[in-house]
Amino acid sequence: MAVTRTFSIIKPDATRRNLTGAVTKMLEDAGLRVVASKRIQMTKEQAEGFYAVHKERPFFGELVDFMISGPVVLQVLEGEDAVKRNRDVMGATNPADADEGTIRKSYAESIEANSVHGSDSDENAKTEIEFFFAEDEIVG
Ligand code: CMP
Repeated sequence: MAVTRTFSIIKPDATRRNLTGAVTKMLEDAGLRVVASKRIQMTKEQAEGFYAVHKERPFFGELVDFMISGPVVLQVLEGEDAVKRNRDVMGATNPADADEGTIRKSYAESIEANSVHGSDSDENAKTEIEFFFAEDEIVG
């Protein structure tokens, strides 16, 4: 299995509850390595650009408002089959559907305040990593 990268966001509901370490430990325990990390206050323009694929969805405005409601921690994660590995440990988008032992089952408050984002494909991972990180900020 190839070692690949994915992009992760620890969302404002999780940073607000001081869960950065707890979430990161679950990622690391799942076999992922944090090869880049930064805590930022996302701007409205960044949130709208990052989630542009969802701009026609009815929840877009609330999603953007939520993502700028507090600090987020952006991470590049590396591991074997990183996109799938990360999605497995995150659990379903809606915490009501998430399996036991997943990050969202453990910590998410709602489908919006669902604690983490993770890329859904290798192609999107590359785009999302490049949206927030320069290559020299990633140290594997
Ligand atoms: P994320 O993986 O960050 O990608 C888009 C986000 O939209 C998703 O996680 C959810 O947190 C958020 N969202 C808010 N409302 C909904 C909804 N009704 N259906 C799907 N996603 C939603």
